[in-house]
Amino acid sequence: MRIKVAPSILSCDFSRLAEEIKAVESAGADLLHVDVMDGHFVPNITIGPVVLKDIRKVTKLPLDVHLMIEHPERFVDSFVASGADMITVHIEVCGKKTLQALRNKLKLKKVSLGISLNPKTPYAKIKPILGLVDFVLVMSVNPGFGGQEFIGSVIPKIKRLRSEFSGDIAVDGGINENTGKLVVEAGANILAVGSYIFKSKNYKETIRRLKCVM
Ligand code: DX5
Ligand code: ZN
Repeated sequence: MRIKVAPSILSCDFSRLAEEIKAVESAGADLLHVDVMDGHFVPNITIGPVVLKDIRKVTKLPLDVHLMIEHPERFVDSFVASGADMITVHIEVCGKKTLQALRNKLKLKKVSLGISLNPKTPYAKIKPILGLVDFVLVMSVNPGFGGQEFIGSVIPKIKRLRSEFSGDIAVDGGINENTGKLVVEAGANILAVGSYIFKSKNYKETIRRLKCVM
């Protein structure tokens, strides 16, 4: 499977947001990973639909919106109206009925739906709803902040998931070339990467190396 890289703008220089986005786009990014936090589901607050709408104006990259918020179903319409191409919600705050409703709604809008699970959440939690989603985003750090250390105990979960799921598997948190290789070997094909890209000197070279970990 071809590896896709999704730079996470959480670690970019927000005073130069448009420039940073254009820089990763011309450096070979496949998607733009946008972290939305509400101060409830995670202990941090980031950006909302108003900012996403302006991000949409400066890039052609698919916008991969990672909702780390409670009651995601209340906000999905606004993010879709602002230009999201992919919406990820967390299994810890989203039951099967809600997911089913989101599935139907997003299908009509041609927006793909992903489910994410925290490092401590077992695979068994998402197994029953895998038929409702287009992709899975496996968290390899506890969500809330960029620049944290990769949690290696998620590797068996990725392997198990790959053996039973044929859609895209993204991994988010602490990804660099070494940890990227581990998750790709386990079956992931999308790398969401924040600090390793935005703290690097040459985005193009960093993205190129991430795409060749295997
Ligand atoms: C963490 C976010 C990640 C974060 C990854 O809660 O969901 O997308 O930006 O950042 P790094 O790659 O620095 O761990
Ligand atoms: Zn994320």
